[in-house]
Amino acid sequence: MQKKETKDLLANLTGTKTEQIPIWFLRQAGRYLPEYQEIRKKNSFLNICQSPKLACEITLQPLRRYDLDAAIIFSDILFPLTAVGQKLTFTKGEGPQLTPPIRTKTDLKKLNFDLFEEKVSAIGEALSLVKSQLDDKKTLIGFAGAPFTVASYMIEGAPTKNFAHLKRLLFSDQETYSEIMTFLVEMTRRYLKIQIDAGADTLMLFDTWAGQMSPLDFQEYSKKYLTPIFNYIHQEGTPLIYYPGANVESFLKLDTSKLSCLAVDWRISFRQALECIEKKYVNKYELCLQGNLDPQCLLGSESFVRSRTQQIINEIQKLGINHYIFNVGHGLLPTTPLESLNWVIDEVKKFKL
Ligand code: CP3
Repeated sequence: MQKKETKDLLANLTGTKTEQIPIWFLRQAGRYLPEYQEIRKKNSFLNICQSPKLACEITLQPLRRYDLDAAIIFSDILFPLTAVGQKLTFTKGEGPQLTPPIRTKTDLKKLNFDLFEEKVSAIGEALSLVKSQLDDKKTLIGFAGAPFTVASYMIEGAPTKNFAHLKRLLFSDQETYSEIMTFLVEMTRRYLKIQIDAGADTLMLFDTWAGQMSPLDFQEYSKKYLTPIFNYIHQEGTPLIYYPGANVESFLKLDTSKLSCLAVDWRISFRQALECIEKKYVNKYELCLQGNLDPQCLLGSESFVRSRTQQIINEIQKLGINHYIFNVGHGLLPTTPLESLNWVIDEVKKFKL
């Protein structure tokens, strides 16, 4: 007989319906928490990513404050780039800067995987530390960025609105684009493998900028670099959650048989998302959905926050979605009021399926 899963969140990912809807928040370990700000005053962001003790502490901070079902390891989708040879800096108000930007074959040759596992070992050590302290009802989540989203920072060298360098490369020199993306597939696989080995219960792949591709380009130039990652993680037997940002089209023709869960952005409806996923995947494979609450709702009044939370649960029920993880549809804002998370959690926990 199959062992009953004690973790509600993992149960939903692996096809078991639970009485309670599990809940966690994207970017739950971060700047809206005063206890995070305290540590950040004395340590740079990268130092925290490189310190298993500090990363573990910050990962656990939201769970001390809130009744959450999961801990997401504290790191960043750009952290592994520092181990292949790009320099990452955060300039106040300007976001992450990566130098040198990688735009040619010669640029790419400057990067390599020498001692990669050692250079990012902090994430594995942080995961092991968290695992040893985490209640066994809670799920431990590891993560990475999807190749296209990481490529956008790697190629542009800084946050961008129009992705001009990336698009120029893609539309004028597909061979170099393909080499960069293939390099990122390898980097992502290795970064995720370290996390599997260190005890991550599940993994999330963030593809925040997937919607910057036209539907046609997504099919041709992004999906083929996702597929080997989906296949690899599936082979490893670890459930995978994929977040394609606000891009409905990226759900289209996506072979979700290798995925456990699709994270639904707040800018699309569950109905739209389901229309794009082939029926056989939702029913046959019991695909789990996650998310959809607009993170900006949390700036609202208590009655508003509670009613939006209920609306999402009602919609899930109406659509007959069996497996669902409550979450926001993109990361919490640094201005999120601390109390508002309790209102959401309280509404979700009141509810019994
Ligand atoms: O609770 C958690 O989710 C913590 C772990 C985490 C961080 N970044 C920590 C972080 C995760 C899962 C991420 C993912 C991430 N990082 C994404 C994908 C998800 C999304 O939000 O779209 C992206 C695109 C990045 C890249 C990145 N990292 C940016 C653009 C920035 C600067 C602006 C911002 O959004 O904060 C970061 C820095 C960063 N990563 C911070 C944190 C807590 C802020 C660091 C600080 O100033 O203290």
